[in-house]
Amino acid sequence: MARKSQTIALLIFFVAVALSKTSYAAFISTYWGQNVSEGTLKEACDTGIYDIINIAFLNVFGGGRTPSMNLAGHCDPPSGTCVIFGEQIRYCQRLGIKALLSLGGAIGTYGLTSKDDAQSVADYLWETFLPGRTSPGPLGDATLDGIDFDIEGASNLYYDDLVRFLKEKSESVYLSAAPQCPFPDYHLGPAIDTGLFDAVGVQFYNNPPCQYHDAAEDAAPAGGYITVGNLTSYVLPVIKKSAKYGGVMLWSRSFDKETGYGASIKPFIHEDGLVYSS
Ligand SMILES: *[C@@H]1O[C@H](CO)[C@@H](O)[C@H](O)[C@H]1NC(C)=O
Ligand SMILES: *[C@@H]1O[C@H](CO)[C@@H](O)[C@H](O)[C@H]1NC(C)=O
Repeated sequence: MARKSQTIALLIFFVAVALSKTSYAAFISTYWGQNVSEGTLKEACDTGIYDIINIAFLNVFGGGRTPSMNLAGHCDPPSGTCVIFGEQIRYCQRLGIKALLSLGGAIGTYGLTSKDDAQSVADYLWETFLPGRTSPGPLGDATLDGIDFDIEGASNLYYDDLVRFLKEKSESVYLSAAPQCPFPDYHLGPAIDTGLFDAVGVQFYNNPPCQYHDAAEDAAPAGGYITVGNLTSYVLPVIKKSAKYGGVMLWSRSFDKETGYGASIKPFIHEDGLVYSS
């Protein structure tokens, strides 16, 4: 998703949900945090489009590094100005929207070097962003609902351990993964094999071997952009038949604000009122 190219537009992930859960309404999730023109988190939540928002990114972690976030022009984590989003996260949660912290992204310095390292990152996440938090963190006094894994760089090791350690903290920590569509995903394959993710949003763009073919759009330089019409007429009717269909994930709030894509597809995500259950 956040590839180095700055020109990627609104792009689609299809989300598969874990069947072990009792029931799910299909959802729309998006990434927020990489372009200040997208507006605040509160504005994104007030649109009523999204069920899950991935705050992107914690792009420095592991290997003994001091973890740090990058939220583009929204705020400056080192100087503590991102605490303003604490109140907005709690606002979104009161609307029933889950807020996750997204790890990784295309630009950053991250990677796990051992099982112990995975344990210390799990401890850090639990104590800084999740219910183990006892004092305000980089996002103020908000407690996030979970963690999204958008691991695109460096090593693929020990993410399975990180996932296990996070679920050991609490079953209720919501975990999502954003692999590329070539299967198995190089970075997240072993982590996905743990079976512990609550949702997996697969990146079906900028992946020529497996993306939606022949939908051209300047914004998706390596292809795979799906028009609203193609999505609602051809793609959703097919994937909604899968018991694992969980909805659609969009990159990103910024492009969605520009295009209105999420609002256009929203009625088709679960228009039949189905709840997909195990
Ligand atoms: C940020 O959003 C603006 C306006 O929507 C857009 O023109 C610009 O290309 C975006 N920048 C990046 C880095 O995506
Ligand atoms: C599907 O997308 C193509 C362009 O990529 C477009 O020409 C066609 O009209 C679209 N079909 C629908 C039903 O929107």
